[in-house]
Amino acid sequence: MSSFLQSIEAKRDGHALSDDALRRFVAGVVAEVPQGRLPDYQISAFLMAIYFQGLDDRERRTLTLAMRDSGETLSFAHDPTRPVVDKHSTGGVGDKVSLPLAPLLACLGFRVPMISGRGLGITGGTLDKLESIPGFTTRLSRDRILRQVETLGVALAGQTEHMVPADRRLYALRDVTGTVPSRHLITASILSKKLAEGLDCLVLDVKFGSGAFMRDFDQARQLARNLVDLANDCGVHTRALLTSMDSPLGRAAGNWLEIRETVACLSGSGPSDLRELVLACAAHLLVQTGRQPDLTDAIEAAANCLDSGAPLARWNDLLAAQGADLARYASMLCADTLAPAIGVVRAHHSGFVSRADSRILGEVIRDLGGGRLQQDSVIDPHVGIDQLAKPGEPIRAGEPLCRIHARTATALEHALTTASAAFQINESPEPGSPLIREVILPPNLPRARAEE
Ligand code: URA
Repeated sequence: MSSFLQSIEAKRDGHALSDDALRRFVAGVVAEVPQGRLPDYQISAFLMAIYFQGLDDRERRTLTLAMRDSGETLSFAHDPTRPVVDKHSTGGVGDKVSLPLAPLLACLGFRVPMISGRGLGITGGTLDKLESIPGFTTRLSRDRILRQVETLGVALAGQTEHMVPADRRLYALRDVTGTVPSRHLITASILSKKLAEGLDCLVLDVKFGSGAFMRDFDQARQLARNLVDLANDCGVHTRALLTSMDSPLGRAAGNWLEIRETVACLSGSGPSDLRELVLACAAHLLVQTGRQPDLTDAIEAAANCLDSGAPLARWNDLLAAQGADLARYASMLCADTLAPAIGVVRAHHSGFVSRADSRILGEVIRDLGGGRLQQDSVIDPHVGIDQLAKPGEPIRAGEPLCRIHARTATALEHALTTASAAFQINESPEPGSPLIREVILPPNLPRARAEE
């Protein structure tokens, strides 16, 4: 009997695995065929055993570190005046926070090797959004990322071919075996990639609500706790914000439309919820790195920096450094829409918007071609929604609830009908819930800091 079969059976029966067994598993995931590459069916069975039986803290740590070390990692020269930081979101509809945040962090004096992913299902991916900018390349080598982060302060890139190859194979198998929604596997997947970036500090945005991976708040909170504990245990100062994804973030969702909203945020005219989350992520990193004494001062410092215009200039430098065709980009920004068919969902009666459901709207965008049903689906960068009315806002009969950008008249017609089901209008306003519901801090932070 192969030793890996014994590991599958042990996990199936609820036993903890040795560090050695977990490291051999990861080695078998990335090995070439003659060197003992594990077959898909055995890896899939093992993933399902983990899905049902879970991992304890030690197993999660060992699996994560083995995955991190399955390929090349980044490593920056130690410089306490320029900490290396990043932010990661579990993903949501209209979640473009990384885009304005990255140049803001660079202007605040951080080094930011932001390695991002693509969208799957209804969650948009940072790389897909960036690739809606003509010419912009997200395929940077390890050396190029290191160099650009040292000189410009920021690089926005996809995982290099050689970074964390174990996660690439495991995620592809999880995706087709129903094992994505395991908090143990999600923790190992996210942190193996973040720990490979050589970070000093990390802020996580763990979303809950209708458009999130984890719809349930308590489940999202448990995932956030696992992520924060393990990342800190591995030497990266980490906090997590638990943020609502019941309605899309900002007023636009869809790849190019989110680039436009990013530019609005960097220019001081973007939506308030996007600005709030961008500033909160920056502020937590300022406090985590000891550069500001408390969150109030840190938010003020981040807001002053954003309003100075320097992050917008850094964004433009970043686009130029990563190959964007700036003339075409500028003319695209001036156009009201780049999609051939445009229509508006209108309010049937007056009142207050009480729901703009992000799952329904995310599915509308995905079905318009703005998202992926499979990893190899081709994205339409120009479709999506904008001018979104937000929960809590007053609205009169006939006013727009959102505008839809589609490729064809038929797709538009279908989207208009489906999207209208996302909205609810009540006679009176309902009390709003906060965007940031809770902050998860490292386990051993003194209570005074924990309550700041
Ligand atoms: N994002 C990741 O990178 N991995 C997961 O497993 C889930 C979300």
